[in-house]
Amino acid sequence: MINENTITEMIATGKKSIYWTEINMNLLQEIKESFLKTKPLQGLTIGMCLHVEPKTAVLCKTLKAGGANVIITGSPGTTKDDVAAAMADEGIKVYGQRSDGREEHLQNIQSVLKHHPQILMDNGADLTREYIKHYNAEGLIGCTEETTTGANLLREDLKGKFPVPIIVINDSPLKQVIENEHGVGQTIVQGFMRTTNLIVPTKRFVVIGYGTCGRGVARYLRSLGAQVTVVDQNPIAGLEAALDGLRVARLEDTLAYGQVFITVTGRPNIILKEHIDKMNDGAILANAGHFSWEIDLEYLESEADTIDRLSPDIEQFTMKDGRRVMLLTKGEMLNLAQEGGGGNPVETMDLGFALQASSVLYLVKQHAQMATGPQPVPHEVNIKVASNMLKQLSLPL
Ligand SMILES: NC(=O)c1ccc[n+]([C@@H]2O[C@H](COP(=O)([O-])OP(=O)(O)OC[C@H]3O[C@@H](n4cnc5c(N)ncnc54)[C@H](O)[C@@H]3O)[C@@H](O)[C@H]2O)c1
Repeated sequence: MINENTITEMIATGKKSIYWTEINMNLLQEIKESFLKTKPLQGLTIGMCLHVEPKTAVLCKTLKAGGANVIITGSPGTTKDDVAAAMADEGIKVYGQRSDGREEHLQNIQSVLKHHPQILMDNGADLTREYIKHYNAEGLIGCTEETTTGANLLREDLKGKFPVPIIVINDSPLKQVIENEHGVGQTIVQGFMRTTNLIVPTKRFVVIGYGTCGRGVARYLRSLGAQVTVVDQNPIAGLEAALDGLRVARLEDTLAYGQVFITVTGRPNIILKEHIDKMNDGAILANAGHFSWEIDLEYLESEADTIDRLSPDIEQFTMKDGRRVMLLTKGEMLNLAQEGGGGNPVETMDLGFALQASSVLYLVKQHAQMATGPQPVPHEVNIKVASNMLKQLSLPL
């Protein structure tokens, strides 16, 4: 049971981190100013499933300034409890806490949906997937989807199931370069350094997945002097990595060589039993992709002789043959799930969330004319957000 003093302290700490973030999110502040004047979202309920952390809090405050009623839950392991408390104090309904697992996460999603949102803002397609199972889309205007994994699920498993437009923020070239490549690249490497306190130069990293995020992770590691090997099932991505000066190999050929394995494919079942069994003693596993499903955690948990928590973010699995395998942040996204981890840099999320807020406005105004189903961020939204960011970098178009 948390006492009242603790809650007051949590709210104060949460508000300070939101404040620091807000003063560095200039694109969203500009949108907020305009929303405050015109109230374009007046009376709308927006249901969200986005990581509950300071940058998302600034997005919620922006939408609220536009008149929306905002209800949010996060993802397992990534909710910052002090930020959640501060958001609740500012009139945003928040479900969930950091300790939530997958089951509680699904209950939180149901709680959000019970508010009958007219707009869904999702990250990983959990909210939209549950919505389509239980509701008939009456009153729903449209959705946004933040990330690659969610976009894949919407276009594959949920194809044709949505009678409203879904703007895929991840399709924006702005988001791919600025947030996925630079944001994820910087913060995954930062996350590794902070979690392990180990040296990066000379260390042998294997990055699995050379898409928009993997490219960033590999390039940041390389720029710090790490030895980086890339694994990608797509020969075009592999070729790109090779031309970028990186080693390219099949996963099975890296097992005896790699010291740190980072998954970033967005797909399930990447590091499996047959890989883990051949890794060296002390191999470190981490994930940057949206779900922990990239690493066979079930195998690690069921086959280890002993499991020891060495720190809040490092677990040691001692296998039956005596080898030790180290897992960071329970296989959840290293940059977001780590103790004190801040996720992507503020400025990169300012851009991503400016795309989100502008896309919500676009949906409200244009939904009746739009095609249904997943679609890219409208060109005019990309251009406006890019121009605003350029203006702020003092390079007017
Ligand atoms: N940690 C974060 O802050 C953060 C931020 C944005 C996105 N993400 C997540 O990161 C993941 C990757 O996103 P992305 O935009 O780079 O995706 P992407 O689709 O651009 O790239 C994925 C790459 O993985 C490769 N791949 C797929 N299956 C593979 C397999 N079995 N073996 C080897 N390679 C395989 C693909 O060929 C592709 O090149 C997604 O889950 C996304 O949601 C995380």
